[in-house]
Amino acid sequence: MNIDILLGLQWGDEGKGKVVDALSPVYDVVARFQGGPNAGHSLEFNNVKHVLHLIPSGIFHPEKLNIIGNGVVIDPAVFKKEIEELGPPVSELTKRLIISTRANLILPGHRILDAAYECNKGAAKIGSTLKGIGPAYTDKTSRNGLRAGDILRKDFRELYDKHLKRHLTILKSYDFRFDLQEYEKGWFEGIEMLKNFRIVNTEYLVNELSAKGSKILAEGAQGTMLDVDFGSYPFVTSSNTISAGACTGLGISPKLAGEIFGIFKAYCTRVGSGPFPTELFDETGNILRNTGKEFGSTTGRPRRCGWLDLPALKYSIMINGVTKLFMTKADVMSGFKTIKICSSYKVDGKECREIPFNNDSIIEPVYTEMVGWNDNISEIKEFDKLPQALKKFIEFIEYQTGVPVTMVSVGPDREETIFRNI
Ligand code: GDP
Ligand code: IMO
Ligand code: MG
Repeated sequence: MNIDILLGLQWGDEGKGKVVDALSPVYDVVARFQGGPNAGHSLEFNNVKHVLHLIPSGIFHPEKLNIIGNGVVIDPAVFKKEIEELGPPVSELTKRLIISTRANLILPGHRILDAAYECNKGAAKIGSTLKGIGPAYTDKTSRNGLRAGDILRKDFRELYDKHLKRHLTILKSYDFRFDLQEYEKGWFEGIEMLKNFRIVNTEYLVNELSAKGSKILAEGAQGTMLDVDFGSYPFVTSSNTISAGACTGLGISPKLAGEIFGIFKAYCTRVGSGPFPTELFDETGNILRNTGKEFGSTTGRPRRCGWLDLPALKYSIMINGVTKLFMTKADVMSGFKTIKICSSYKVDGKECREIPFNNDSIIEPVYTEMVGWNDNISEIKEFDKLPQALKKFIEFIEYQTGVPVTMVSVGPDREETIFRNI
């Protein structure tokens, strides 16, 4: 039971990158298990902000091993750019990062198809990050994928051409202009960058390290409400973002899972389309967006903001089997005289416990109002020193969910993290 899983409980951007980085000192290995360059995981230390897309958030700790698991989809062009922007030389990073042979590649055709599909959707756009995620996972499950382990094959170029031909055939039915050469150049340069790294059957490595007693942290991307099965389909991503995804995305048995850390913001945000019951369209929403700097780490898009949604949070806790809750961005909520929490839903006018499976129902949030807090809390280092009103807010969440809040993040920096032993 030495593989802990950390994942988002809302619509992504809960602060996974920051918290994984802050937790890394107590782990030997950090392993990403799903998603791809649609993720944007930010972390800050020494007054510098870093945004990671494909690379696990333990990478800045030189003595830790980072793994990109089989469940991740890799765009070699994004990978190369990210490696080059990290800081340490490639020769150093190759010691810290290992990639699964079985991780599927995002091909230039996938990115173009993603854009063509979105363009064709008219008003029903998903709001995809357009990184090629959907088409890459589609090819994976329809058994048409190219994988990281394939790049060393002698016939790799022929295989690539075969996939490209197939993508171009599909694209013929779309009235969509694209510049393939521009994508291809960066992509093949990325393939050369990937060749510097160890590409191995990481499922053996993870299981062997676990058997030897190494402590492993599985890092999720996106959030439970964007899960392809349990999110607000079709306004979701294309992978299983939930704790079960860590098993399939790393090749581990559920028996090995230890703690399941569920991370959530003290309010909610969402980028892209889809239902968001507690969304605020007023000045309060603007305050949360501006104070919380709620602009996408990957696309720069303004994030939609709203109050904390407990029915959604409870659903996520249930699906994931969360053992400990981590709350971020409590500092952003400072300054409101009163704050609201959605404690239940009215679905089509009736009190309802469940999240509807489709998006046709009218969901009306039922709010509980609480007293806010005013203090600047970012300098606080101990849980007990947090404002009384914030502690009451946390108590209410714990009471409603039945899960303890064991970490409170009070700022973007690695140091602005309060762990609580309960
Ligand atoms: P991720 O995708 O879950 O890793 O989250 P993102 O990095 O996309 O978005 C979270 C944003 O909030 C980033 O800009 C972080 O630097 C920032 N952040 C994380 N935790 C806190 C916090 O407790 N307070 C504040 N003010 N910002 C935070
Ligand atoms: P992190 O890991 C927030 C959203 C997109 C879109 C939908 C589908 O940083 O939390 P996709 O590109 O996967 O086809 O987009 O999912 N989305 C995210 N929203 N954070 C993310 O990742 C996201 N990754 C995808 O905005 O609505
Ligand atoms: Mg993000």
